[in-house]
Amino acid sequence: MKRLAILISGRGSNMAALIESARAGEIDAAIGIVISNRPEAAGLKIAAAAGVATAIVDHRSFADRGEFERSLIAAIDGAAPDLIVLAGFMRILSPAFVARYTGRLLNIHPSLLPAYPGVDTHRRALADGVRIHGCTVHFVTADVDCGPIVAQGAVAVADGDDEATLAARVLAVEHRLLVRAVRLFCADRLTIAGARVRIRGETAEPGVLEAPSDKATNSAPP
Ligand code: GAR
Repeated sequence: MKRLAILISGRGSNMAALIESARAGEIDAAIGIVISNRPEAAGLKIAAAAGVATAIVDHRSFADRGEFERSLIAAIDGAAPDLIVLAGFMRILSPAFVARYTGRLLNIHPSLLPAYPGVDTHRRALADGVRIHGCTVHFVTADVDCGPIVAQGAVAVADGDDEATLAARVLAVEHRLLVRAVRLFCADRLTIAGARVRIRGETAEPGVLEAPSDKATNSAPP
């Protein structure tokens, strides 16, 4: 069984999905610790209520990023995790920090990377009028929201969508996708091969996604 450390900054719904899937035996993992850089993060209460150890490493109480990260590393390493999951962790991490955990640091991001790295992904996707949006789970490398992609989930953008409705639909996919990616990691089925991730035992044909899905309407002559 693998040990996990989960880093959060707020609501913690992705963290909660991982805690629940570990409890249900859907992933072969024990959550060693949940760490938040924000003392007020709602996810801390959810973790504590589930009996998971929590820690706060408040970035505002350190003189610089180096000090903050040293304290974060101490909290992580104290739990001796096999895998560290950034589940809505909203701090940029230094190349040295990322290098320390190469190959065992996963992030979930609310866009189909490499589109829309950074913040406000749903607003930017709507402003661009994209028809397909989604989320990505990837191994973390030194560049922000970069790194070998483990899994992506897509949703169709509806004409009536606003930022809130689109975010809610993507979030539901995030929860499933993150659990799936962590399950694969915990089963030792992921190998990083350059920029790509190979999934051992994955035999299904790669699928094609289309949105809107009404092909008849799409292909009708003008
Ligand atoms: C999620 O949508 C996650 O993808 C995003 O923050 C949200 C956290 O929600 N992460 C990022 O934007 C990281 N760049 P949660 O706290 O309910 O899991």
